[in-house]
Amino acid sequence: MNAYSDIPNVTKTTEMAQETTLLNPRFYTTDFDEMDAIDVTPVRGEWDRLIAQMRSDPNKKHFKKTEAWDEIDFDALDPKLRVELIDFLVSSLTAEFSGCVLYKEMKRRGSNPDICELFKYMSRDEARHAGFINDALKEAGIGVNLGFLTKTKKYTYFKPKFIYYATYLSEKIGYARYITIFRHLEKHPENRFHPIFKWFEEWCNDEFSHGEAFALLMRTDPKLTSGRNVWWIRFFLVAVYATMFVRDHARPAFHEALGIDIEEYDQKVFRTTSEIARQIFPIELDIDHPKWLPLLRRMNAIFIEAEAAVKAGGVGGWFRHKWAMARAGVTFLQLYFLPVKRNTVPESSHMVPAY
Ligand SMILES: [Fe+2]
Ligand SMILES: [Fe+2]
Repeated sequence: MNAYSDIPNVTKTTEMAQETTLLNPRFYTTDFDEMDAIDVTPVRGEWDRLIAQMRSDPNKKHFKKTEAWDEIDFDALDPKLRVELIDFLVSSLTAEFSGCVLYKEMKRRGSNPDICELFKYMSRDEARHAGFINDALKEAGIGVNLGFLTKTKKYTYFKPKFIYYATYLSEKIGYARYITIFRHLEKHPENRFHPIFKWFEEWCNDEFSHGEAFALLMRTDPKLTSGRNVWWIRFFLVAVYATMFVRDHARPAFHEALGIDIEEYDQKVFRTTSEIARQIFPIELDIDHPKWLPLLRRMNAIFIEAEAAVKAGGVGGWFRHKWAMARAGVTFLQLYFLPVKRNTVPESSHMVPAY
């Protein structure tokens, strides 16, 4: 038990991380043999450079609490903010740990030295990220039971190519989210209500490198980013962006405390992610299209209705929830079929984190 009546205990935070909904971060499994068979020869030069950088482990000492970690008094936080901060931490932790579990499994099952070495470094990084967030939760007496989570969370199977699209995007959008918050708080340190944000700059460089690795993996086979697969890339772009929009809007107090306008922030993160993704994706979503934001707002309103319907329960609630999900599907299709921008992918995907 912890001292606060309005926030969850360890069991509850572990349950929060365990939950499988459309919007929560998931755990993935895939065809590890197919991934193990990747031959990185076509990108050997860039591959070796990236692996050398990961091997040098620039963030080895970063994920430790130093004197910069000011003690945070969870009790003193506004109750709404407290709940949303915990939700943010638990969902970030789940996403980080999801990467850790998937990468570690690939490393464990593989026999291809290139692939195993990459996944070893990536799981090392994600374990540190997850551990660091969990330390912050433990400070409030509500750390997530990660061993239990590994065993009990539902795993979603994705074909390797879907893992590449989804994971590439989540690494790059993760980078964009962390760096945007970090840069904002550099200008407004008075809004930094939790010390963890101070760690985001070096942290997001890890995510950036992980994204670089997935870009290289996709470049080993040009089919992955051409032809019919471009429709899949488009699907993942819309799904990842729309999910982020709805999830962020569920945390109004959190963003208000940071002094961040959610819509502006999300658009900024989408813009950064889209710019980066030009390194590998032949299309990008037109986030300035006049229908883009209105459709996202509608999607968000539908999810709020859906949640209210679930809470209301009963037959009426069940029907209202189904109806909301049907409309969410239609809105998704409308977003999906908004015109996209074509992009000529450069010869080399190499990029540095410059935001
Ligand atoms: Fe991470
Ligand atoms: Fe990562």
